[in-house]
Amino acid sequence: MNEVLRAIKERRSVRVFRPDPVEPEKLEAILEAARWAPSGRNSQPWRLVVVESKEKREELGRVVTQMDMVRTAPVTIAVLRDKDAGYDEVKDIQAIGACAQNILLAAHSLGLGACWLGRVRDPQVEKIIGAKENEELMMLIVIGYPRERPAPKERKPLEEIVRRI
Ligand SMILES: Cc1cc2nc3c(=O)[nH]c(=O)nc-3n(C[C@H](O)[C@H](O)[C@H](O)COP(=O)(O)O)c2cc1C
Repeated sequence: MNEVLRAIKERRSVRVFRPDPVEPEKLEAILEAARWAPSGRNSQPWRLVVVESKEKREELGRVVTQMDMVRTAPVTIAVLRDKDAGYDEVKDIQAIGACAQNILLAAHSLGLGACWLGRVRDPQVEKIIGAKENEELMMLIVIGYPRERPAPKERKPLEEIVRRI
């Protein structure tokens, strides 16, 4: 199996982190991976807010359900949709999903762990991260060095999800 396929298969959602910081060059590489995601008409409708300050992490931790994750992860990336940059809501959201997956895979490939948090799409969270008028929060991605090695979650067998015609 090549490295890309191995990373896709071995990536897990990591929800418990060590306090060690994420090196700036690793964070840069993750952001660069996000930038190279595909998007319809190459519209690149994603906007990323990198949350590293203790103050902002604490603030986020007070309003999101999985507060400990946001408080303890040294980095959180808020992924926003720029409603002015896109051209079709569904396709823009699909592109942002691809951007998020790039972030997760890049983090994993660098020895970091990450988790996509969807239950955070709330005006309070948007306010804390400074979302602009034309931006909508899609997800938070928490990133840090893993303190756990989660077991793989089950996947449906190919026969259940694939039809060949
Ligand atoms: C759209 C989406 C929303 C998610 N929201 C959350 C969330 O709010 N909290 C959480 O702990 N995990 C969340 N996850 C992570 C999933 O629970 C996880 O990907 C799934 O259980 C499979 O586990 P794995 O990523 O380790 O393979 C989300 C994933 C996706 C793609």
